[in-house]
Amino acid sequence: MAETPTAAVYGLPPRELAEIPAGAVQVSPLKPGAKDLETLSNLTELIVYAPPGALERRQVLAAGLRALAPGGRLLALAPKDKGGSRLGKELAAFGCDVDETARRHHRICAALRPAAPAGLEKALTEGAPRLVPSTGLWSQPGVFSWDRIDPGSVLLAAHLPPLAGDGADLGCGIGVLAHAVLASPKVTALTLVDIDRRAVEAARRNVDDPRADFHWADALEDPPLAGLDFVVMNPPFHDAGHEDRGLGQAFIRRAAKILRPGGRLYAVANRHLPYEAGLKAAFKAVHTVIEQSGYKVFEAIR
Ligand SMILES: C[S@@+](CC[C@H](N)C(=O)[O-])C[C@H]1O[C@@H](n2cnc3c(N)ncnc32)[C@H](O)[C@@H]1O
Repeated sequence: MAETPTAAVYGLPPRELAEIPAGAVQVSPLKPGAKDLETLSNLTELIVYAPPGALERRQVLAAGLRALAPGGRLLALAPKDKGGSRLGKELAAFGCDVDETARRHHRICAALRPAAPAGLEKALTEGAPRLVPSTGLWSQPGVFSWDRIDPGSVLLAAHLPPLAGDGADLGCGIGVLAHAVLASPKVTALTLVDIDRRAVEAARRNVDDPRADFHWADALEDPPLAGLDFVVMNPPFHDAGHEDRGLGQAFIRRAAKILRPGGRLYAVANRHLPYEAGLKAAFKAVHTVIEQSGYKVFEAIR
């Protein structure tokens, strides 16, 4: 039987700022295969590299305090301008006696889990998955564009031709593009992949279609796919809060790899992102379907 973890880490804090205890299990929803912090209990130590969104961050801190045993050690840190400056107050509001320090543009808060933390249920509820009334879709704070549909995705969905055969939605989020894809009866299978467990769980609820299957994975590696007829994507261009153009370019190469010759990629990107060269290098033909409101939609034929 697997041992019950006593220490956990959420995310990847800079090494020089936090020492990860030996045997700590990863609990970030952005690390495929990680444990869900909400299922753990009696931890003696928890390190949280806290996420930037306020609802998401307070949900993680509350889940962390609930998972710790009374007296268990919490170290929470974040860049000062990405929620770090609010960490101390947020932990104090949960009843923690916080020892706060500043290093390398981060705020680092150490606390022992109080016997009876305050306000955990409220923070857990505010950060929980829910049906968002304005979109009619399941989502959760922290997920990409969690409470509004991204205008780039709307543009791509509106310009997809009726698709056919087997395809994939790389970086599927909560399943917005999948809805548009599966509207075509000639689609036989759609693999949805996202690196965010919360997004995949929401997509499962939003996309009720036997042709869809769902994977919590790094789409650049998993699941093994080949010979697809089409790929759709609104590729990520941020990693850990920083613009990373290489990520979108890697998604383009991955799409080319998993398509059959003649298979088609439909992708949307912010107008400023330089994807044309990568598309032309990986595909036989590329054309811009539409440029509108700061976004561009590409069709690329493998
Ligand atoms: C710009 S969003 C698009 C989401 C969704 N397709 C939509 O249109 O609303 C990019 C998505 O890619 C996911 N993502 C980022 N890196 C990834 C990776 N390496 N593998 C799989 N998904 C990834 C993010 O979690 C995010 O949901």
